[in-house]
Formats: sequence, C-alpha cells, structure tokens
Amino acid sequence: MPGLIPEAVLEEILSRVDIVELIAGYIPLKRAGKNFKAVCPFHHEKTPSFMVSSERQIYHCFGCGESGNAFKFLIRHERMEFPEAVDFLAKKTGVILPQSIPQDRKTVNQSIQLYKVNELACSFYTQNLRNPEHVDAKRYLRERGLTDETLALFSLGYAVKKWDALVSFLRQKKAPLQVIENAGLVLPKDTGGYYDRFRNRLIFPIKDVKSRVIGFGARVLDESLPKYINSPETPVYVKGKNLFGLDLAKEHIRDNDCAVIVEGYLDCIIPYQYGIMNVVASLGTALTVEQIRLLKRYTHQVVMIYDADNAGELATLRSFDLLIDEDMRVKVASLPQGFDPDTFVRQYGIQAFRDRIDAAEDLFDYKLSVLLTRYRPKDVHGKAQISTLMLSTIQRFKNAVMRTEYIKQLAQVLDIREEALWQEIRKLKSPSVSTQEVPSAALCTNPTERLLVKLMLEVPDCIRRVKELLEPSDFQDAQIGRIVSVIFDLAEQDKPIAANCLVNSVEGEGISKIIGESVFSPDEVSIEDRDRILDDCIQRIRNQGTRLKRQSLHEQIKAAQHLGDDERLQSLMREFHHLVRSSQ
Ligand code: CTP
Ligand code: MN
Repeated sequence: MPGLIPEAVLEEILSRVDIVELIAGYIPLKRAGKNFKAVCPFHHEKTPSFMVSSERQIYHCFGCGESGNAFKFLIRHERMEFPEAVDFLAKKTGVILPQSIPQDRKTVNQSIQLYKVNELACSFYTQNLRNPEHVDAKRYLRERGLTDETLALFSLGYAVKKWDALVSFLRQKKAPLQVIENAGLVLPKDTGGYYDRFRNRLIFPIKDVKSRVIGFGARVLDESLPKYINSPETPVYVKGKNLFGLDLAKEHIRDNDCAVIVEGYLDCIIPYQYGIMNVVASLGTALTVEQIRLLKRYTHQVVMIYDADNAGELATLRSFDLLIDEDMRVKVASLPQGFDPDTFVRQYGIQAFRDRIDAAEDLFDYKLSVLLTRYRPKDVHGKAQISTLMLSTIQRFKNAVMRTEYIKQLAQVLDIREEALWQEIRKLKSPSVSTQEVPSAALCTNPTERLLVKLMLEVPDCIRRVKELLEPSDFQDAQIGRIVSVIFDLAEQDKPIAANCLVNSVEGEGISKIIGESVFSPDEVSIEDRDRILDDCIQRIRNQGTRLKRQSLHEQIKAAQHLGDDERLQSLMREFHHLVRSSQ
C-alpha cells in the first residue's frame, strides 16, 4: 500500500532509478528518437508499440494501454506486490527505507489530528446554522425541504460571511495552524496569516464509513458560481475513495441487499429523509474502483440514478465496466429530462421515486438504448460502433451464460449474425493479461485535455496560466481532473512535477494510462506555438464546460416551464443569464 511508505521516499527512489536500464534488463529496447521502443510484453503484437521515456521515466503501450513508472513495471511484469517492488528498487538504488512502525505511528497521529480539527470545524458550522443571526441559511435549507432532524443527522452547517470566523474559532480551541491548513480549511494570505476557505456557504460535511469528518462540500445560497467548492485532498480525504452518506446508509444497504447511487449531496439527503435510506452519493464524478469496493462490503447490487442529462449519462456509462469487473449487478433507473433525484422526489413524491428504482433497467439494456440513440443502428458503421462498445462490456461478464445470452440479444437488435459478434469478442480478448483493458490503439482521452496535461508536464510555467483560468472540475474526464488537481497542488507547494511520481500520487487504474498517453502523444508543440496552443486548449475546455452546462440548464428550463414551476424557472433563468454573461 503506497500510503505506508512516505511519498518522499518513493520519489527519492524514482529519482535514482533509470527506467530504461530497468526495463532493458527484461526486454530488448531499441532507440526511437528521444524515446525507446519495444514489442509490448503485456500483449501479443508484431510491430512495437511499447514506448519508454528516459526523460519522463515512464512507459506506455499504444497497443494495449498499459502504462506506468518503474514500480508499476515490476508489479505487472514480475508480478511483484507494491511493497516488494519498492524494496527491490530501494536496494538497487541504495535508498534506505524508514522503519515502518514509527512512520505508521506518525501517519496515524497526523490523521487523528486532522479528524479532530475537522470535527471542531463541523461543530462550528452546525452551531452557526442554529444561530438566529444566520436565519437565511436555515431558511434556504427549509425551502429545499429539509427537516431539522435531517439537518442534524447529516450535520449540515453554515460558514459565515467573514474571512476569519473559522480560523479564529479553531485558534481559540488551540488547534495548531499547520493542522488547520493541512485539513484544507484555510488558505494562506499573501500578506501573511490565513483566511477561511469556505465563506457564506452551506456546509455539507463528508464523513467516512466510521462517521469521521474527512472533508467538506460547500454550496452557495443563491445561483452564483461556483455552486459548490470542496475540500482539497488531504491525508484523510482522497477524492474517489469515499461515498457521501455511506455511514448512514450502510446498514440499510445490507438490509436491502442493494445500494442506490446518486450524484449530488441533496440527491442523497432528500431520498434518505423520505425513507429510501440505502442511498449514497458519488459527488459528481464517475464511480471509482475504490468506491465500488467500499460498497461491496455490504452488497453486490447497485441501482444508479444519475441526472437525466448528457453528463449524467456519460458518468453512468463510464462506471459500468468497472462495476462488472468487480462482479456487481448493476441496474440503471432513469428520471425525466431535467430532473435529479432531489427535484424528482420533491415534485412527485417518494413513492414515484421508489417506482423508478423498482423499474430500473438492466445495465445491458440501458447501455444499448443509449447507444441506439447515439449511433445509427441501420447503418453498417453504426452497427459496428454499437457492437464494439457493447462487446467491450459483454466480455467483462465472467459468467458464460450471461455472455451468451447478451450476444444473442445484441445480434437480434442489430440484425446481424451471432457468429460475427463472437468473432469480434474474441479479438477483444487480450491473450496474455486477463484483467487488461480492451486492447485498442485508439487513445481513450479527450485530445484537448490530454494535450493540456502534456504541456503542464513538459513546461511547468504553463501551470500558472491553466490554474488561473480552469478548475479541475472543468475537465470532462474525471480522471484528468484528478491529475490536474494534484498538479495544481504540487505547483502551489512549489514542488516539482514529475510524470513518474504523479503515477504514484494519483490513484486509479486509468491514471497512468492517461499520463502515458499525454507524455508519448505525438502532438509536438514548438516553443513559438506554445502560448497560443495553451490558450486555445484552455479556451476550448472552458467552452466545452459552458456548453454542457448551458445544454443542461436549457433542458431543466424546458422541464420547469412544462411543469409550470415558476419559482424554479426563475432561478434557472437567473443561472442561465449568469452563465451566458460570465462566458462572454
Ligand atoms: N459538484 C461539485 N462542484 C461543482 C458542481 C458539482 O463538487 N462545481 C458535485 C457536488 O457534489 C454536487 C454534484 O457534483 O452535489 C452534482 O452536481 P450538480 O448536479 O450540478 O448539483 P446538485 O447536486 O444538483 O446541486 P443543487 O441541487 O444544490 O443545485
Ligand atoms: Mn440538484
């Protein structure tokens, strides 16, 4: 587990090892420009598509997508466990590993301090909400249908409209400044001292399974932007490793043998309040393996209910393959356009919501119906596209009966022979590595986002500009968003940004692949063009964010008009105008 070995030690090892020399010890490498090339050891191929970069100290295969740093190579190629790989390279490079016990204790102590300061902050926020002075915040939550009991259960709170309310409170409680800063509750001022990160916002504490407060989400009281800001990652809060509401939902998930997964804070809280208590929120990102594994302790069945918009559909589709790999049974419930679970429950009542959950579609049917609207099933190319995307899901089922049944259905819908599908699915299977991604020479990431990551890795000066104009959440690809967020954090601390270290510090299966694709991508940017290209990428990502947002608002406005919900219509229109103005 990377957590037990200090990051700094891993980085020290990585800075001393030479990945080219390491890999050349196992397979023959050939020079190709400033990189090295080989026939990929992780899948069968005749022409080499496996690249190693001496400059960046990582490898990437354009055939099967396998990428990583020196540790990952040993883990995959030599089947070492992570600590074993660390040990091996530590010996090779002469880095002395710290005794694991004291380090453990230090990490544990640090975490305890963070939980404590988070708990204090949480109590301060909840106290504010009870204060008649801040009746506006209370009123807002009431208007959104929350009872006092729910507010208490989820420890919802309010951060007041002052620059130093929290920091003064915590100082008075004798919390060390360093811990407060590490918890992400305050930010340093240019002029010295600190100011509160969250001001004039509703506070949604994020708790782990044991109900310890690990971070916060904070929402504005009106329609201004950004709607939510969240705690940065800290040693106790790693995004994508927690599920909001799990501490309250876990018993109900076990009892129902099913978890309902939604996107947002209120999408979780409102159904819970009305009696659907086996509900958790992924907090606006695609599900990660870690989140799925958390759920697996309680159930093997999930129903996903994401917002009925394009972003929600994408997030749902992206989660599927992971869920199947983890042997979960997945269903998808849908809501009318423009609704999310919160607005749906308040509009139609909890029974209607329960009915939607009961009527949830099997993942196969859901994915197929989405694809049938995106591609043309009557057209040859459409058939090929739909079948490839469906097969990549079907091949993940470990059960042969299920695979056979799904292939039969798919053949019927597309009006093609089953045999053709079997032929294609065999092509998808990678011969040497069973848990591998679908081999495909195609790059899996958004080209603009990938290019931006490449630029930031190659030219640290670019980071400042990107940081001025974009937030990690502006990136459509949630994994790229996570990489960017770590790059921003490192830049803020003036730490060097090395591709091979990034692979360690951002967890997630797809991360090293994205970094590999970025580093080795053929997009060469000359120095003269750099600034212009950088600005183009930034602008394009900003536009894409606004476009999606505008689309979704547009749909919601139509729905509100249709329902005659004037109040909601007004607030949506305000948000729409705000968006249009701010993007000009
Ligand atoms: N989110 C975020 N930062 C943002 C926008 C969204 O972290 N700038 C996360 C939040 O966890 C949010 C979830 O993504 O709950 C879903 O986003 P969205 O659908 O935009 O918000 P809602 O949850 O519907 O928020 P509300 O109902 O309060 O308007
Ligand atoms: Mn909502």
